Amino acid sequence: MEQKRYGHFDDQHREYVITDPQTPWPWINYLGNEDFFSLISNTAGGYSFYKDAKFRRITRYRYNNVPMDNGGRYFYIKDGDTVWNPGWKPCKTPLDFYECRHGMSYTRISGRKNGVEASVLFFVPLKKWAEVQKLTLKNESKEVKQLKLFSFEEWCLWNAATDMENFQRNFSTGEVEIEGSTIYHKTEYRERRNHYAFYHVNAPIQGFDTDRETFVGLYNEFADPQAVMEGKPRNSHAHGWSPIASHYIEVTLQPGESKDFVFLLGYIENEQDEKFEAPQVINKKKAHALIAELDTTEKVDKAFAALCEYWDALLNIYKVKTGNDKLDRMVNIWNQYQCMVTFNFSRSASFFESGVGRGMGFRDSNQDLVGFVHQIPPRARQRIIDIASTQFPDGGCYHQYQPLTKRGNNDIGGGFNDDPCWLIFGTVAYIKETGDFSILDEMVPFDNQPGTEVTLFEHLKISMDHVIKNLGPHMLPLIGRADWNDCLNLNCFSWDPNESFQTTENVSEGTKAESLMIAGLFVVTGKDYVALCQKLANGQWSMVNGQCDFAAEAARMQQAVDAMIEAVKKHGWDGEWYLRAYDFYGRKIGSNECEEAKIFIESQGWCTMAEIGAEDGMVAKSLDSCKKYLECEHGMVLNNPAFTKYIYEYGEISSYPEGYKENAGIFCHNNPWVIIGECLAGRGNDAWSHYAKILPSYVEEKYQTLHKVEPYVNCQMVAGKDAFKPGEGKNSWLTGTAAWMWYTVSEFILGIKPDYDGIRIDPCLPETASDYTVCRKFREAEYEITIHPNGAQKGVKSITLDGQPVNGTIIPYSAGKHIVEVMM
Ligand code: BGC
Repeated sequence: MEQKRYGHFDDQHREYVITDPQTPWPWINYLGNEDFFSLISNTAGGYSFYKDAKFRRITRYRYNNVPMDNGGRYFYIKDGDTVWNPGWKPCKTPLDFYECRHGMSYTRISGRKNGVEASVLFFVPLKKWAEVQKLTLKNESKEVKQLKLFSFEEWCLWNAATDMENFQRNFSTGEVEIEGSTIYHKTEYRERRNHYAFYHVNAPIQGFDTDRETFVGLYNEFADPQAVMEGKPRNSHAHGWSPIASHYIEVTLQPGESKDFVFLLGYIENEQDEKFEAPQVINKKKAHALIAELDTTEKVDKAFAALCEYWDALLNIYKVKTGNDKLDRMVNIWNQYQCMVTFNFSRSASFFESGVGRGMGFRDSNQDLVGFVHQIPPRARQRIIDIASTQFPDGGCYHQYQPLTKRGNNDIGGGFNDDPCWLIFGTVAYIKETGDFSILDEMVPFDNQPGTEVTLFEHLKISMDHVIKNLGPHMLPLIGRADWNDCLNLNCFSWDPNESFQTTENVSEGTKAESLMIAGLFVVTGKDYVALCQKLANGQWSMVNGQCDFAAEAARMQQAVDAMIEAVKKHGWDGEWYLRAYDFYGRKIGSNECEEAKIFIESQGWCTMAEIGAEDGMVAKSLDSCKKYLECEHGMVLNNPAFTKYIYEYGEISSYPEGYKENAGIFCHNNPWVIIGECLAGRGNDAWSHYAKILPSYVEEKYQTLHKVEPYVNCQMVAGKDAFKPGEGKNSWLTGTAAWMWYTVSEFILGIKPDYDGIRIDPCLPETASDYTVCRKFREAEYEITIHPNGAQKGVKSITLDGQPVNGTIIPYSAGKHIVEVMM
């Protein structure tokens, strides 16, 4: 059956073009790249914040609302008796034309009604704390148009959590100021806050509103605000209740005439002693300056061009040409773009993450790094330091921290025993990309306590040691509250629905719960750590801030890695696949002996990536088992068969209905682990077929309606084969899938892998692959690498660098432009 389509890719402009506003779910985009951020849906819903979606929310948003995705930056156009919005919502007046183009950090929404076209370009200019909304109104009719234009934003009272609950206070605190065409939001500025926001337009206004109920009317809605319907602003001044910002502008357009309006939503911070210009009057100097930088079409167009150039440069670092559009557009555009977004937001703010629940995750952010480090290495460097600063002296760490304060979240605490290993994963990726060993010398505190600083290298060391010091009866890593799978809570034991699965440890004394996922992760990162120490022992870097016998350290860790490999072979193998874990009592999880969930994906992924027992055929058997038991039409499920009842000893995992989330959902994040396992094993056909199943551009074509969420990015979970609706996607955008898909395709499938001394070339491809070229900027060099697969799935036969043969598979690094030819 022909699927209904809601949009399509426009690769030339790096855009996804949505042509029907009634998408199966809001399809969103992100604006802003450093401090000021916005989420925007295809109907202009969403919100803005400064750095932290919880503590510094600028505009209000109501999650899980009815109707869905209500509230945002809205322009109401009143043309005679017709009131409409360029993005269709909230009035939902049928439009003569609608289009939303989501691009790289910008969105353009256009609508046409009765001969008037309204097009709004939304973006956050580089280094500015503001969202630009450039509205172009054009009269395409033959008559003169007299339009009444109303803008609309609703202020959030800064802390998005208390904004939703503390109404006994909130309804009395709201304060605004109005000056010319600028509406200022200054709630709580009189006391401890030194920040305010504003909403400005670069044209004279004929009225305004700042009190929500006065503008909307208590018994009306965003779809029919009274002031708009009557074409009459109230000039309301908010005192408490719910402050908003709405400009009113009367616009006359001759036939064929068009006019631009630049709206600006800005955020300002003032020094303590410069807060006021007069009693009760906020100091607007910085706001005026910011407005002056963006108050004409020319200035805004220039800022937009700079943003586009910024993305050109970022996306020029790794560029592939395979001739397969679906692959090229994901590698060259959308996958890299999603990696930037996950790097910026970790799991904090999306249309599935409310911005108040989670900040930056320790494990999440380290993984996000591998998708981002090639783009802006200095930001990756800072992130590594920030993350490591939330570690404890014993190597354990806070599971999450808030981006604004950079402090660990006490609500969730620590105890997730995979967390420490990820620090090695992130740091090694950074050094390999940049060659910057000096990061290891940075003095980094524990739990952000001044005076506790040790080198970053020391942090890596105690991370490894944390695993070694927490081994269980089979000499496998103790799982703690959970490993990567937040929902496998083997020490929780809860019958109380008011308890959190993840923070409750009703019984942990005497636990024997061990994780094969951490075992594999430890071997992979342990090998990386050993290689790093060997590099350091060879004099790559001499420590300024500490002392270490790196050769001895490499040997010590190699022993621990070897011991772990032995433990896995001895106690972690089930005959056809790797076990998943041992429970509190030391009983097997993920074994043929189990009634349900006989096999799990995580340990297959990590133990095959670690190549444990490859020589004994374990890796091949495990990969075959993934195909046999986990694979389905939409990807590989997490476990099989799904749990059908709650298992007290296992925690949250079995609380999910069959086929969803961690209970046999296709948790896209972990599919790449198996794909990398396939690549290391040289099974290119299998690697590719797994990869293509969860590659958005392939899904886009097949299931626009079924998949439901944005077809241009990966989502965290696709309902698995046991689900009510297999193939339905959820939790789009903020998922480790982005970084892992990138890492997999760029380094293992296409085979261009940064290493300490150069670039390692080792592709793993389907037999059908044709010649392809990767242009890779690397440090001060630029490589144009052409691969001739010659029908091989794996195995590089010969490499030439600028015409000269290269020994082995590493192209030694040297600055400048180079041509590389690779025969497989
Ligand atoms: C979390 C990850 C976790 C994964 C699997 C995600 O929601 O952000 O930290 O590893 O779920 O449980």
